[in-house]
Amino acid sequence: MMELRSSRVCQNLLITVALLICFSAIFYTYYQPNVNWNCINDPKISDKTEIVNNTETVTQTDPDTILLIWMWPFGAKFDLGICRSMYNIHGCRLTDNRDQFKSAHGVMFHHRDIREDDMPTLPRPPFQKWIWMNIEPPINSAPYSTLNNLFNLTATYRQDSDIMVPYGRISEKTGGSTTFKIPYKSKLVCWIVSRWNSNYKRSQYYENLKQHISIETYGRSFNRPVRNEDYSDLISSCKFYLSFENSISKDYITEKLYNPLKLGTVPVVLGPPRKNYEELIPGNAFIHVDDFSSPKELAEHLKLLDQNESL
Ligand SMILES: *[C@@H]1O[C@H](CO)[C@@H](O)[C@H](O)[C@H]1NC(C)=O
Ligand SMILES: *[C@@H]1O[C@H](CO)[C@@H](O)[C@H](O)[C@H]1NC(C)=O
Repeated sequence: MMELRSSRVCQNLLITVALLICFSAIFYTYYQPNVNWNCINDPKISDKTEIVNNTETVTQTDPDTILLIWMWPFGAKFDLGICRSMYNIHGCRLTDNRDQFKSAHGVMFHHRDIREDDMPTLPRPPFQKWIWMNIEPPINSAPYSTLNNLFNLTATYRQDSDIMVPYGRISEKTGGSTTFKIPYKSKLVCWIVSRWNSNYKRSQYYENLKQHISIETYGRSFNRPVRNEDYSDLISSCKFYLSFENSISKDYITEKLYNPLKLGTVPVVLGPPRKNYEELIPGNAFIHVDDFSSPKELAEHLKLLDQNESL
């Protein structure tokens, strides 16, 4: 965990834990739909979690909703008391004890960790729903045909999931200071990459872009790993951050967008079309590479913005 940003696996672990926490609350509201809540999912550190305190709508006589986590995503465990401790939601019980299979309302399976010889063998109680959870895009999600027609609900970042678990979400700020001070900027364009693959569209775009503008590169791919504790300061010291997704898939918009956005840095995105981003965040909160006919034109625009504060 020392070099969070330079380790894809570690990164996935933390993201999944944060997603699961969020997911648990969503699943709970699926069963108790009168509970309003609002989850800002920060994949890096869960310091932005907000709850609409509406717990009084849950009556004490409601039986607990039990969610069985069949396997820990990427093997990473987390506190099972989070429904209450993080979300102040009562009557929601998470468990990893497979003996509770018969009473569980939901059983959660994380795609990456599914083993076909490790699925439940007992008959399924009629009220129980099986939930297929996945945070990876299709290209990184090997299909298992024997698992077809097993699941009742999907939980993924996709908007058409039964339970949508996005990598982040914009919400209105409540309380605290309402003015935002732009952090001090010492760099123009930055990029952190842990996994280099020359076949990725983002690699090709970068190779071209760097001919026209200077890019500060970090991460394992560039032999400049970034320590977790330095991550936020680094991102916020850049005017622009290359939020380039490794896979171009519908709704696959990750912490690569949400982290700079939160840290006062303008994301330059490469991923699904602009329209897809605009379904999730305001259209003027980012720059899309598709807005420009070439990397050269994008570079010129960024240089123009660099010289013009009001723009
Ligand atoms: C939530 O609301 C209940 C009842 O109004 C109150 O007792 C409790 O302190 C509130 N919790 C938080 C975290 O605001
Ligand atoms: C869940 O899906 C399975 C397989 O399609 C089905 O047999 C079962 O009735 C469904 N359960 C619920 C609670 O909808």
